[in-house]
Amino acid sequence: MKNTAQPLLEEYQIGNLKLKNRVIMSSLTRGRATNEGLVPTPLMAAYYAQRASAGLILSEGTWVNPRSIGFINVPGIYTPEQIEGWKLVTQAVHDKGGLIFSQLGHIGAASHPDFFGGELPAGPSAINPQTQSFTPEGFKDTVTPRMLTVAEIKQTILDYKQAAKNAKEAGFDGIEVHAQAGMLIPQFLSLATNKRSDEYGGSVENRARIVFEILDAIIEVWDSTRVAIKFTPVLFSHVGIVTPDEETIPLFQYILKKLSDYNLAYLHIVGPAEDLTGTPVEVLQDDYFSHFRYHYSGTLMANLGFTQGSGNAILKDGKADLVSFGTPFIANPDLVKRFMYNLPLAESNRDTYYSGESGYTDYPEAVIA
Ligand SMILES: Cc1cc2nc3c(=O)[nH]c(=O)nc-3n(C[C@H](O)[C@H](O)[C@H](O)COP(=O)(O)O)c2cc1C
Repeated sequence: MKNTAQPLLEEYQIGNLKLKNRVIMSSLTRGRATNEGLVPTPLMAAYYAQRASAGLILSEGTWVNPRSIGFINVPGIYTPEQIEGWKLVTQAVHDKGGLIFSQLGHIGAASHPDFFGGELPAGPSAINPQTQSFTPEGFKDTVTPRMLTVAEIKQTILDYKQAAKNAKEAGFDGIEVHAQAGMLIPQFLSLATNKRSDEYGGSVENRARIVFEILDAIIEVWDSTRVAIKFTPVLFSHVGIVTPDEETIPLFQYILKKLSDYNLAYLHIVGPAEDLTGTPVEVLQDDYFSHFRYHYSGTLMANLGFTQGSGNAILKDGKADLVSFGTPFIANPDLVKRFMYNLPLAESNRDTYYSGESGYTDYPEAVIA
C-alpha cells in the first residue's frame, strides 16, 4: 500500500532549491572511473540516474587535484575531460528530475607514494596516519608523509575553489566538502596528525582554520546555500590515529558556532558506529544529533545506519531536517519507492563495492505487486 504520509517523503526547501523528499543519497566511492584520466564514464551516469528519485544525490568523493588522490579509480574534477565526464552524470540525473551535489575531497597524508611516482604524500605534519591506502596493487599501509608548506596549503585551498568552479561548469547543483575521517581536513583537526606550530596548528581556531578557508573560497564561486560540509566527529575504526581526542568536543563547538553564520545548504553529520562510553566524546553518547542541533542553527542532515523507521522518527522528533542513506542506496536504486510502498530492502554485495562489472548498475527496482 502506498504511504506518502511519512516525514521522509516530505519536500524540503534549501535556498531556491526544492528537494522532492528528505531521503538523501550520501556519497559512495564505487571505484568505477576505470581509466587513466579518472574521468566519469557513461556507466557512472547510468548508475546515478537510477538513483535520481532521492531528494538529493551526493556524488562519490571526488579529487580536487592530482595530489589529493589516494584510492584507485576514483574520479577527479580538475581536468577538462573530467568536467566533460561529469556533464554526462549531471545531465542524466537532471533528465530524471533529480538533483546532485559534487563531493570534493582530498586524502592528504592517507595516500601512498605509489600514486605519486614514489614521491611522498603530504599532510599537516610528517606523521604517519597509520591507516591503509587502496593502491593499484591493493591495500597498502600508509607511510610518514611530508609536511605541507603554508604556500601548499594556500594552493590546495585554491584547488578546492577551482574544483568548485569546475563542478558548476559540469552542471552540479551544489558542493559538499568531504571532511570525513581519513581525509585531509580531519588530519588538520586531529591532535594526533597536526603538530604544526604556524597558523594551521596548535589552538582549536588554528586547526579549524582550513575548514573555513576552504568554505570561504568555495563561497566565492557558489551561493552559500549551495555549499555544505560533511563531518564524522566520532569515528574510531579504519581511520588509523585520526580518532576523537580530548579536544574534539571544544573543537566542534567552535566549528558549529562559526558555521551557523555561514547560511550553508546543510551540515551533514555522521553518527557513532560504536559505543562512545569511556571515549573522549562520551558526552555525545545520549541523544547524539541533539548536540549538533543545539550548537548549529542551520539545516542538519543526519547519517549512519538509518532505516525507514529511524529516519522518519528523527525527522518527526525535529532532531534533523534531512536523512542520508549510504549502503541502502547500493542495492536499492529505488529506495524512495521502497519506503513509499513499505517494500523490503535488497542486500548489497560488499565484494563489488569498489570494483567489478557487476554490483553497480544491475541492482533491479522492486516490483510493486
Ligand atoms: C562503499 C562505500 C563508499 C563510501 N564512500 C564515501 C565517500 O566517498 N564519501 C563520503 O563522505 N562517505 C563515503 N561513505 C560513507 C557513506 O556516505 C555513509 O556516511 C556511511 O555508509 C553511513 O551511512 P549508511 O549507514 O546509510 O551506509 C562510503 C560508504 C560506503 C559503504
